[in-house]
Amino acid sequence: MSIIIKTDDQIELMRQSGHLLAKVHEELHQAIHPGMSTLDIDTIGEKLIRQMGGIPNFKNYEGYPASICVSVNDEVVHGIPHAEHILQEGDIVSLDAGLIYKGWHSDAARTWGVGMIAPEAQQLIDVTKQSFFEGIKMAKAGNRLFDISKAIDAYVTPYGYGIVRELTGHGIGQHLHEDPMIPNYRQLRRGVKLEKGMALAIEPMINLGSREVGWMDDDWTVVTYDGSISAHYENTIAITDGEPEILTLLDE
Ligand code: MF3
Ligand code: CO
Repeated sequence: MSIIIKTDDQIELMRQSGHLLAKVHEELHQAIHPGMSTLDIDTIGEKLIRQMGGIPNFKNYEGYPASICVSVNDEVVHGIPHAEHILQEGDIVSLDAGLIYKGWHSDAARTWGVGMIAPEAQQLIDVTKQSFFEGIKMAKAGNRLFDISKAIDAYVTPYGYGIVRELTGHGIGQHLHEDPMIPNYRQLRRGVKLEKGMALAIEPMINLGSREVGWMDDDWTVVTYDGSISAHYENTIAITDGEPEILTLLDE
């Protein structure tokens, strides 16, 4: 496999896909409240995706049973929504969502607090989000792929947080997962040269405690080994001639 370069017209379709996904995330954020179940989030999210003319790309992906990955507290990613899993004030919840529009995939994740949360939880969420922005400062044609990884690591490590290594960002386009894999921690090599037309999903997963993770018996839900909370932030971006374009964010 190699990295598939997209034309301007194809990036335009990915932009449309991404902007729809950004709206889904905004509406999901509004919907979050204590007392709702993680399955409620999936139900709302799938409905939003379909209302917008999209197809949920996670549903049935390698057997994953839902449209939105909902990961609460020590769940890192790929949490499976359940009717019995009720959000409580003080929880943090990571929502990972994706859709296909006109054949083009988008993929993005956000972590939110449920009601009032501990300051240390808010800081973890903020640092995880900012680490994405630090990473994409390097996402320019002519730089190397792992310059992004290094920048994320350099920003997060001074906080003493654990950077998850078992999962990575990825290329994206007419498939949810394309080459290359994009680790969120420092690499020994600088990696391939970034080129205009690459579309990448960059997604740091950061633990309050150690970087160690495990898998639950459902074989999907990734949890922190030490039980500490974890945050996730992801956008689909395009490499351009200049600054990277974030396809899954709307202008504020
Ligand atoms: N954002 C996730 C990823 O990039 C997608 C969820 S995987 C699925 O790997 F299987 F749940 F769809
Ligand atoms: Co992804």
